[in-house]
Amino acid sequence: MGGSRRTFVVGNWKMHKTVREAVEFASLLKRRAAGFQRVQIAVAPPMSALERVARELEGSNIGVAAQNCHWAEAGAFTGEVSAPMLKDLGCHWSLVGHSERRQLFGETDVDVRRKVEALLKVGIHPIVCVGETLADRDAGRTRDVVGKQVQACVAGLSVVEANAMTIAYEPVWAIGTGRTASPEQAQEVHQGIRALWGQHLGEDAASALRIQYGGSVKPDNAQVLLMQPDIDGALVGGASLDADAFVSIAAASPER
Ligand code: PGA
Repeated sequence: MGGSRRTFVVGNWKMHKTVREAVEFASLLKRRAAGFQRVQIAVAPPMSALERVARELEGSNIGVAAQNCHWAEAGAFTGEVSAPMLKDLGCHWSLVGHSERRQLFGETDVDVRRKVEALLKVGIHPIVCVGETLADRDAGRTRDVVGKQVQACVAGLSVVEANAMTIAYEPVWAIGTGRTASPEQAQEVHQGIRALWGQHLGEDAASALRIQYGGSVKPDNAQVLLMQPDIDGALVGGASLDADAFVSIAAASPER
């Protein structure tokens, strides 16, 4: 395990920053992270700033992700943005099924799967977020809940398609709460996700899959999380809005 998976750290800016603030921040990050090679880095600005941030980061070692997309190519879906439109803006990745989307906007596993397919079709790499609520965890349902979410996004995909994906394990109770899963708790779930991936797609695909941890990742807990054998990166919310914090999380990635 571990092997050749390159650590992948993504900053999810959520609904923060005007275009000007986003571009200035991207420019600062670009300078601060210049020369980082061991770790792959991306930022997910709000949709309004995506194109300008993508332009600012062009040619740098920081990629650009969307926070969401719609599953249809085009159509009467007021307020939505499609995968081909994201491609057009210079997007390399897109989050899918973030717990805020699932909880606040009613996104289901079926929606997530359709979005994954739409993204793969245009060559954008999906980062699918999965995770249990505190009630699920307390009731001993973590494995079932996360397993069902992973299964829904991967069942029936080809190995080539699956290899384009990243999974982000984000326990809902750890997002924005300051509570982090312990490295052991996270490792256990990550290991289960990899095993499930293997059942669907075989050993090679399972050992190539990158699984990020997300939920109150900070500079002072990043290293111990990233040292776990099945934690291959971080999806960072709050701390990604602070350049020092985000860069030091990226710098905490271990040699692999
Ligand atoms: P947080 O958010 O780091 O603020 O907990 C993580 C996320 O929502 O992706």
